Amino acid sequence: MDLSSPAPFGQIRWDDDRTGIVILDQTRLPSEVKEVTLRTVEGIEEAIKSLRVRGAPLIGVTGAMGLAALSCGEARQGPLSEELRTSFAGWADRLAAARPTAVNLAWAINRMRVVLEATPGSSTDIAAALIEEAGLILIEDARMCRAIGEHGVGLLGESSVVLTHCNAGALATGGIGTALAPVYVGHERGLRTRVFADETRPLLQGSRITAWELDAAGIDVTVITDGMAGALMAVDTPDVVFVGSDRIAANGDAANKIGTYGLAVLAEQHGIPFYVLAPTSTIDHHASDGSAIPIEFRSADEIRRGFGRLTAPENVPVWSPAFDVTPARLITGIITEHGIHEPPYIESLGALRAGST
Ligand code: MRU
Repeated sequence: MDLSSPAPFGQIRWDDDRTGIVILDQTRLPSEVKEVTLRTVEGIEEAIKSLRVRGAPLIGVTGAMGLAALSCGEARQGPLSEELRTSFAGWADRLAAARPTAVNLAWAINRMRVVLEATPGSSTDIAAALIEEAGLILIEDARMCRAIGEHGVGLLGESSVVLTHCNAGALATGGIGTALAPVYVGHERGLRTRVFADETRPLLQGSRITAWELDAAGIDVTVITDGMAGALMAVDTPDVVFVGSDRIAANGDAANKIGTYGLAVLAEQHGIPFYVLAPTSTIDHHASDGSAIPIEFRSADEIRRGFGRLTAPENVPVWSPAFDVTPARLITGIITEHGIHEPPYIESLGALRAGST
């Protein structure tokens, strides 16, 4: 595996004629490593909604590559450019609504809309410009992950213990991940890092995906259930907590997989530094604080009968937000491709918006 290339775990690629995208079906991990090819807007939307492809940056890349592939497929059938523009608008609206919390999806789709509007010519010209832009979004995402890793690795010693939640690794991005990027960069440099991966109820992205990818890369990883994090901290094990984010508000409040907020409270209680690692495409400067972040709710059955067996009575209601918001005051630092940003985030993240770091 070449960690310096985009999508080093085969998380996403074009199919041969660029009229489809091929993703690693993450719902099958870790028991099966299986790719699936997506050629329709229904297929791409289903893959995003059902978490076959997931993680804020990677669903952004998927939205962009998906739109480009759909446009390429339609252009080959020879429609007029106006017809393609109309089809594109419908696809873009539909995909942008597939998952509401991860701002990277809307961000990437907007970039594609801008390119479409700026491209005159035939449907073939438009499709070519969209393919180029989507390819750029993938490459940029891989570069941002690498830069996050370079900034974050300075927080790791020769031998460190990291606690993480959900999967903000390679499988959540087009590169080597965000929260796990410093671990991969450290691994390349010979640092010995032990990672504790929260299992991450209810869909187990931590145990199914984080543990799978770290193990595949030869990195020491141990799975715990979410409820064990406090006990782990009480025996003074983790040096640092690294998590990703789906949307960071202007004041630094950060939405991430449900359970992250509790972890941040525990980290504060135990004096353990808590970092959020994310590309600048995850910052929503229009959301002044966490209360403006839309939270996705998931089906009750993901908790009631998650992996096939009934685990709660059929008639008992289930409350299932997919994300929670960690208040900025619990976050030691936010690491983007530009560096480690410290509180007050309204200033340090605001400087990124102004274009100066
Ligand atoms: O529901 P998921 O699996 O898409 O949730 C993913 C997370 O919460 C990640 O931590 C977040 O998207 C950041 S990924 C770099």
